Amino acid sequence: MKEILKGLKEDFKKVFGEGEVRTFFSPGRVNLIGEHTDYNGGNVFPCALSFGTYAIARLRDDKKVRLYSKNFEDLGIIEFDLDELKNVKEHDWANYPKGVLSILKDKGYKIEKGFEILFFGNIPNGAGLSSSASVELATAVVLKGLFNLDIDMVNMVKVSQIAENQFVGVNCGIMDQFAIGMGKKDNAILLDCNTLEYKYAPVKLENAKIIIANTNKRRGLADSKYNERRSECERALADLQTKLDIKSLGELTEKEFEENKELIKNEIDRKRAKHAVYENQRTLRAVEKLNAGDIKGFGELMNQSHISLRDDYEVTGKELDALVEAAWEQEGTIGARMTGAGFGGCTVSIVESNKIDEFIKNVGEKYFEKTGLKADFYIAEIGDGAREIVE
Ligand code: GLA
Repeated sequence: MKEILKGLKEDFKKVFGEGEVRTFFSPGRVNLIGEHTDYNGGNVFPCALSFGTYAIARLRDDKKVRLYSKNFEDLGIIEFDLDELKNVKEHDWANYPKGVLSILKDKGYKIEKGFEILFFGNIPNGAGLSSSASVELATAVVLKGLFNLDIDMVNMVKVSQIAENQFVGVNCGIMDQFAIGMGKKDNAILLDCNTLEYKYAPVKLENAKIIIANTNKRRGLADSKYNERRSECERALADLQTKLDIKSLGELTEKEFEENKELIKNEIDRKRAKHAVYENQRTLRAVEKLNAGDIKGFGELMNQSHISLRDDYEVTGKELDALVEAAWEQEGTIGARMTGAGFGGCTVSIVESNKIDEFIKNVGEKYFEKTGLKADFYIAEIGDGAREIVE
């Protein structure tokens, strides 16, 4: 991290000129289990990663905001006035930090001077590891730092989600922002998205590691079927509410669902709701297994999660299925599933440490045979949440 920051400070100087700066970091996230449950009032079990978004920042004396990303150098410095916070298409990636700034100001936080930020992210873009939520939380911690804002992390998480929903226009749940804001080294977070109650669970895998594999099939959340899935679940909930007194699908046990599922008129909506209910319960069971040291049991539930996302929720697609199936066939794989929104992006697997090299080679080859795409593999390290780096 030190080396990266040193280089980025040099870059900052070249882009914005000499002067004192402050340094910040915000991770990416991977979800271990509990997929498409957050906006259904269910449980999720994500963790923050050791790679993410770096931000180098300082105040200005005027009211100009100037943003630069080393990941989008061809777009140059994106500049706007503090009092002109609108979503501008040409501002592209900068609408994420601008959104966070805008929502903070709307909520009455005092941000009355301009500033400049240089961003650099080492999360693969569009891979479903939440590079956008990482930029949002990076912005939140920068603004809290520069303007001494009296705001805690959970509120920064909420502001970031509102920015993504209202300013950027992607109707995501709260999982990504929460995992990135509240992440803790070597722990995953069991979060009840209904109440925002959460518990850390140490991820002790003994002789195994978490492997993330990128399908390298690009996935656009906004134009994907994400919002369609949300509406299908909302319709299913409304049908159930004709008889049941519930506020979300997350309140139902599997048994209650089975006893009442005929209330859901449309067969597709019924399948979507089934996934949401079963996945939510599966997540709770998985965390119990992990806490009891039953890694194998945890892995089996990961596999079931993928099957449910494939058959009932239908968000996997050819590439994710090929990558997960190749992982299942591999000796030493304890569990494997897609992670994130789906429709491309990444898979997450738990693999015995001494089988990782073979896993990467064989799974990569099989995946290429089936899809013609080259997968990338990362050994995940679970890191801390978004923060200022004081050197
Ligand atoms: C995306 C969203 C999250 C969550 C997942 C699916 O990552 O941003 O809120 O809904 O998809 O679990």
